[in-house]
Amino acid sequence: MCGIFGYLGQDEAAPILLDALRRMEYRGYDSAGIATLCNGRLQRRRAAGKLTSLANLLVRNPILGRVGIGHTRWATHGKASVTNAHPHQSSHVAVAHNGIIENFREIRVELARHGITHDSETDTESAAHLCQYLLNQGMTPLEAARNTVQRLEGSFALAFLFEEEENLLIAARRYSPLVVGHGKNEMFLASDVIALAGLTSTVTFLDDGDLAVISRSGLEVYDFTGARAVRHRTQVSIDSTSAGKGSHQHFMAKEIYEQPRILAAAIKKLGEDAKLLVPDSIVQAVADSAQIELIGCGTASYACQIAEYWFENLAGLPASSGVASEFVHRHRRLEKDTLGIFVSQSGETADSLNALRHMRERGGRTLAVLNVATSTMSREADLVMPIHAGIEISVASTKAFTCQLIALVTLAISVGYQRGCIDKEKYEHHLDELGRLPGLSSAALSCDAEARSAAQEISGSASVLFIGRGTMFPLALEGALKLKEISYIHAEGLAAGELKHGALALVDSNMHVVALAPSGPHFTKTVSNTEEIKARGGQVLLLSDTQGLEVAPTGGWKAMTMPAIDPLFAPIIYAIPLQLLAYHAAVELGTDVDHPRNLAKSVTVE
Ligand code: AGP
Repeated sequence: MCGIFGYLGQDEAAPILLDALRRMEYRGYDSAGIATLCNGRLQRRRAAGKLTSLANLLVRNPILGRVGIGHTRWATHGKASVTNAHPHQSSHVAVAHNGIIENFREIRVELARHGITHDSETDTESAAHLCQYLLNQGMTPLEAARNTVQRLEGSFALAFLFEEEENLLIAARRYSPLVVGHGKNEMFLASDVIALAGLTSTVTFLDDGDLAVISRSGLEVYDFTGARAVRHRTQVSIDSTSAGKGSHQHFMAKEIYEQPRILAAAIKKLGEDAKLLVPDSIVQAVADSAQIELIGCGTASYACQIAEYWFENLAGLPASSGVASEFVHRHRRLEKDTLGIFVSQSGETADSLNALRHMRERGGRTLAVLNVATSTMSREADLVMPIHAGIEISVASTKAFTCQLIALVTLAISVGYQRGCIDKEKYEHHLDELGRLPGLSSAALSCDAEARSAAQEISGSASVLFIGRGTMFPLALEGALKLKEISYIHAEGLAAGELKHGALALVDSNMHVVALAPSGPHFTKTVSNTEEIKARGGQVLLLSDTQGLEVAPTGGWKAMTMPAIDPLFAPIIYAIPLQLLAYHAAVELGTDVDHPRNLAKSVTVE
């Protein structure tokens, strides 16, 4: 979602701002803009659409200056247009904003009473006008910024640039992330640490309620009342190499294809972190809990749903899963010793963060299973377990999903062993099988041609159903999400056993159904369900291993051959053909695969 970048230094700001905004493109946006100070005067350039439009505008109409702010906007209040693009300006101040200012209508009405009108439909413009109004009352920039943020309700990361203030940027955060980068005689401000790649690795993460005063000589942090706050610098390693697509046409393809290497590295690192054979504090915390709640959004929530089976079946722990946006509406009394496991690639998803805070307020302990180790969630959770997927750029989550599953199954196995639900022999067997996953993921990738051919057919479909049983049911939900989010084909995931309870009515010769049926305890029943579909003319794509495909009745639409796998780990490997199917369908339909319409990588508003 929206990205903010600020620069204050010795070089021309515009190219630095533009480059940094490019590094945040993956987050999703639909307009962009920058503002700089040239000889003390504010100048702005904004454009709707992709950053190339802004870059072209800057070629035709450049702006100079050694201090500036930039923004990529994902529309919330008002359409994606030049007028609504950030930074917003009110004579002597320009403002870039991430988040939602909930009381902006109230502020608009108040400002209107003073004759101040708005050009845009955005909530952000009100913050700029309010700040200017306070400057007009004789306040200094710092006082005006502080009094502005005191008035705002909702979530925000804000960057302020003031006319005639060549050595000043002010930033404020509440719930939306911001990080300050320290360079040599130059300073940076970013809403996403990846934007600092190649610029600096020395950073200060701002906390909620921080007001940062940035000058070329450094950073001072205050709270919103004006009291000084101490924030420490840290070193981060920002992998800028992940920002390339390699030989692939899209980031999504690159991220699907690097799974064998990434899974191998993740398993190795988890072994070091979680000390599989000697339970560490995380394993102990889970083992000691009386109840587990697994919470996430979208793909991460399906990882949670799969892990629910694992924690119950391997570790004998009562577990339930749910989506973060609904968890906050539940006020069920928490069992004593409830542990909330929050799964998130970004660690910045607003709904997941709210759910984590809701859990903490109610006395539950929290474990965050994260990809971005420097995220807000990593600082707020009691315990953190990294998944080691590396930077994921494509909006559609692929390698992060399989790495989330690896982290969660590893934890469930370790907890099961710790609690005595799994004996040593079984435990070691599971670890051996875990070690085979990178090789099996390579084998799963070899179904690419089959996936491409199946995708050609479903790309003409109005709707596709995905079915499975056990852990293959939440994986069916994930398969459907992946297809709809990047190809825009309607898709639905179902527990195969639920078909007869309603959805079978949808099946006719136009309906394509993807059935996930690895050999194992649910194979026979799932295949019976596919027969019911075929009997009604439905087109079935059966995903199974050689053994399964040999015994399954022939006919239907197509089959895809998966490697034979222990059913426990099947969702990790069967995720791959679903990713390929969605990818090829999207390419076939010519959608913007890495930046699907209306979506953002990191969903930082509720
Ligand atoms: C995945 O393909 C989606 N784009 C989306 O569902 C995503 O998984 C969800 O928004 C959660 O994001 P997070 O893992 O960063 O919290």
